[in-house]
Amino acid sequence: QDKFDLVIAANRLPVDRVREGNRSVWRRSPGGLVTAMESVMSGRDGAWIGWSGVPGKAPAPFEQDDMWLHPIALSADEITDYYEGFSNGSLWPLYHDVIVPPTFRRRWQAAYEKVNRRFAEVAAELAAENATVWIHDYQLQLMPRYLRELRPDVRIGWFNHIPFPPVELFMQLPARDTLLHGLLGADFLGFQRRTDAQNFLRACRQLLGDDDVEVRADLVQTADGQVCRAAAVPISIDSRGMARLAATPAVRARAREIREQLGNPEKLLLGVDRLDYTKGIRHRLKSLEEMYREGTLDGARTKFIQVATPSRERLQAYQHIKSEVEQTVGRINGEHSSFGAPAVTYLHRSFPREEMAALFVAADVMLVTPLRDGMNLVAKEYVAAHDDTGALVLSEFTGAANELKQAYLCNPHDIARTKRTITRALEAPAEERRRRMRALHRQVLRHDVQRWAERFLSNLAVAPRQP
Ligand code: G6P
Repeated sequence: QDKFDLVIAANRLPVDRVREGNRSVWRRSPGGLVTAMESVMSGRDGAWIGWSGVPGKAPAPFEQDDMWLHPIALSADEITDYYEGFSNGSLWPLYHDVIVPPTFRRRWQAAYEKVNRRFAEVAAELAAENATVWIHDYQLQLMPRYLRELRPDVRIGWFNHIPFPPVELFMQLPARDTLLHGLLGADFLGFQRRTDAQNFLRACRQLLGDDDVEVRADLVQTADGQVCRAAAVPISIDSRGMARLAATPAVRARAREIREQLGNPEKLLLGVDRLDYTKGIRHRLKSLEEMYREGTLDGARTKFIQVATPSRERLQAYQHIKSEVEQTVGRINGEHSSFGAPAVTYLHRSFPREEMAALFVAADVMLVTPLRDGMNLVAKEYVAAHDDTGALVLSEFTGAANELKQAYLCNPHDIARTKRTITRALEAPAEERRRRMRALHRQVLRHDVQRWAERFLSNLAVAPRQP
């Protein structure tokens, strides 16, 4: 058995199983995380452990793109209880401001513990002496503790891609103490915003006993003498990669073609999200529907494209948001479309990177209006694709809003003002839009995903282990 200096653990592997002709092959999943990890892994022995996305027996470990991939098996019941249940029925809504009510089930918690233990056991086996293990996201919050028990020598870091909720919400979770102790098995915990790190530290202070932990500034010391540090290290994207792709003649041509296919609208608005209730798609459509009705937007001249990638489709809350979005789009189009050119083009599927880049380039205004979002990488991708054109309308409830200050910021719950913000973004003088976009573009190019990964790993390397 080979041993590795850097082990990544995430709920999903960085590859998808796809059919090619009559056989299945692994294809590298799109997305910045994979790119970032590739760049930090180059030159060292790296392994990635995660679920393959299909139920049942795990495929044998294999090598791809210089990375050792180790699939973790999830049974059909574990998918229901650990993935759909505890991760996405309890934690996801709780951590996103209870936009829909979370459900708590003891059976889900038991499955979550069991699967987190499985991840820890595999990491313990793959990690070389004094290796670094980087654990990702809310699906694996117990893994740091389990791994620490098995391998006291390794450095353990955990990064939360989603928000960490205020203690008033977090304290609803029946497993709250177990989860906090689970995380405290790590040397370093990275969060998207300072507020998230502070929420975590506050939860430790308020919910765990003084005999259990001592919290001093950004450090938490546990009864066993271990120290864990929590800080903000906001994630980013492969900015240069997106900027380069957006500048290619093929993508430029495709962007023009997209506008032609929509009947050459004067203005094109765009939304791109996983179809999730946190993304504020319903609120966004409400704002647009009112604008079409009132005539602030003209259905013949201003078009809106909404890409909504299918997600977690067996969960009721997701089926619910899907039918609400479909109904609203149908109603808007019934009232405001012209022959052969719908006011809203709704695309419930995913697209290759090139097509996404073309959509970004084609859009005059990008609408990113989540009710709560850890970061929102789509906002950064749009900005990377434009150096001095376009405009970004961005919800204040995203992690990205902390960095993208030159965006047209909005509160998606405030429909009246969101409408005014959209109008402002559409009608701002070209000089103002250029100035804003240049500043945004510079920010996103300077703070890319590689820099994020390096920052996380250097924080982890110097995190104090003892007080
Ligand atoms: C969010 C989470 C990720 C997750 C992704 C897709 O970005 O932070 O951990 O992988 O959504 O969701 P899924 O449930 O399909 O993995």
